[in-house]
Amino acid sequence: MTSVRAMFHLRSGRAGKVARKSKAADGAPERVVEVVPMRRSHLKSVIAIERRIFPSPWSLGLYLSEITQPATRAYYVACVGPQVVGYAGMMVVVGEAHVTNIGVAPEWQRHGVARRLLLQLAREARQRSAQHLTLEVRVSNVGAQALYHEFGFVPAGVRKNYYSEVHEDALVMWAHDIHTDDYRLRLEGIEARLRPLGPPHGAGQAPAAPEK
Ligand SMILES: CC(C)(COP(=O)(O)OP(=O)(O)OC[C@H]1O[C@@H](n2cnc3c(N)ncnc32)[C@H](O)[C@@H]1OP(=O)(O)O)[C@@H](O)C(=O)NCCC(=O)NCCS
Repeated sequence: MTSVRAMFHLRSGRAGKVARKSKAADGAPERVVEVVPMRRSHLKSVIAIERRIFPSPWSLGLYLSEITQPATRAYYVACVGPQVVGYAGMMVVVGEAHVTNIGVAPEWQRHGVARRLLLQLAREARQRSAQHLTLEVRVSNVGAQALYHEFGFVPAGVRKNYYSEVHEDALVMWAHDIHTDDYRLRLEGIEARLRPLGPPHGAGQAPAAPEK
């Protein structure tokens, strides 16, 4: 797993290290989201989010197995201060990176957290010489599909009853040629458009979470 430590300055929307003690124009404390490699110490929080957003949550054992295979896996968490608010991971083998999971706590959804996590995964996939990115998503999960479309993913097929626990098909999506300058420019464009984080959604106001 890379030692890359991505920090996104959410008030300015720019990547890079920032002073933590500065204040926003409204006087509120600066909110900074950091994307850092997932460690064992994050897993309790990751599992807690996983159980809130997925009908068939991954187990602790599965996450442990994933994060202890750094040669072929890369997992990250997004943190606001000490709080884990989202996570994502992928498997990289023979030129292909397969996004295995991505999730954001309901109260932090629609703040660009997943966008930041995917930026990290896509950049790491490029560093690891992957030429293509792929993933599966529920056919009904149009919100996630919109996010993936932004990263150049296009539908390539359907896996029937892939999510058998809820009897739903998976849309298979691919982003091709991620090693090219064109794709690097796409990622730079996404990063340039990142917006400030804003406060978390209040209790009972979280957007409906689409299923995996
Ligand atoms: C899908 C998920 C990871 C998105 O995380 P997020 O941090 O809310 O996503 P972002 O804020 O980065 O959204 C980026 C873009 O994706 C699209 N998008 C994300 N969620 C959406 C939703 N619920 N409805 C419509 N569009 C959505 C939008 O285009 C959004 O940009 P915008 O907010 O500027 O309009 C999150 O909703 C989640 O954890 N869902 C439950 C688990 C899940 O479905 N995981 C995906 C498995 S394949």
